[in-house]
Amino acid sequence: MQYPEPYVTSFDFRPRTRVVFGAGEFARLGEIARELGGTRCLVVADPGIVKAGYAPEAVRSLKARRMTVHEFHEFEPNPTSAMAEAGGAYATPFGIDLIVAVGGGSSLDCAKAVNFLLSNGGKMRDYWGYGKASRPMLPMIAVPTTAGTGSEAQTSATLIDSETGARMSCGDGKGSFRVAILDPKLTASQPAALAAAAGYDALSHAVETLVTTRHTALSECFSRSAWRLISSAFERMVRNPEDLEARGAMLLGAHFGGLAIENSNLGAAHACAFPLIDKFGLAHGAAVATVLAQVVDWNSEVARERYSELFDGDLPGRLRELAEMAGLPVNLRDAGIPEEALPRLAEEAAKQWTGKFNPQPFHAAAALEIYRSAY
Ligand SMILES: [Fe+2]
Repeated sequence: MQYPEPYVTSFDFRPRTRVVFGAGEFARLGEIARELGGTRCLVVADPGIVKAGYAPEAVRSLKARRMTVHEFHEFEPNPTSAMAEAGGAYATPFGIDLIVAVGGGSSLDCAKAVNFLLSNGGKMRDYWGYGKASRPMLPMIAVPTTAGTGSEAQTSATLIDSETGARMSCGDGKGSFRVAILDPKLTASQPAALAAAAGYDALSHAVETLVTTRHTALSECFSRSAWRLISSAFERMVRNPEDLEARGAMLLGAHFGGLAIENSNLGAAHACAFPLIDKFGLAHGAAVATVLAQVVDWNSEVARERYSELFDGDLPGRLRELAEMAGLPVNLRDAGIPEEALPRLAEEAAKQWTGKFNPQPFHAAAALEIYRSAY
């Protein structure tokens, strides 16, 4: 029997993050932080998480184990390098020895960024790229409250460069989360529309990572598991946001999706989505929903067989159906994008890092073709 190419593609994988999964496991935060040797903790959580009561709960859990706790909340969705640097400057005098990130992708990204500054000093630009930290980094615990980015499984932080507005990715294997506490109860309070957008993003990670030029026999285990969990739970979660079992499957699926990204990267759908987010303020999941089915269609020429491992039938049709069911825009017109903006957006899409890993060569002309068919 002949094995297809990915089975000989080399990889170097070591699980970096201990995963603690289950409803109610958040209560163990203090105990787990102690195990990691934390004494002076920094809790990084966006203001919404403070309001939802999760940040105060984290602080209580840590203080109950006699840890000193400082908190950083001054950042917004899609955090900038300046916000991370303000967090670094705030926390440096405290001699932090453990970082706890509670929240969605923004909180987790911000925590990763602050870790570079607390452990290695300098500015965020010093860490743009991968593996730029020379000194050991602080241990971190992630408590995701959304099932979407799977950021807790990824070593890179995505920030916006405050000076240029460019999307910068700063990553280092030393800065991975030591522990991820995946507690579906924490995702249940998320408004249904936000949960649907985040969940669709997680679904797109399963689809994109399965076919990149970087995928391996290992990464596809994560892509497939992510698809299986998310595609079966997504509709249930959208129809009944209180369904804790569906929430659990989504959270775990999003985590596997994050592991798939860490080991395979993303493709043209994210490259096409980023300019829609940056230039027109679309939410990440909504932006992905407008282009994902088109990208799958466009990639099918070279990836049809791999896609068929996910869904026996019309995958682009299925993806559109799921987006519609979740109330997400399925084309750029519905998303409010003016048609005359497409060529400029295509130029921007071609510059995105993730496009380099798409199975079909991706460039501005390809992006324009995808945008046009997604209009
Ligand atoms: Fe995404």
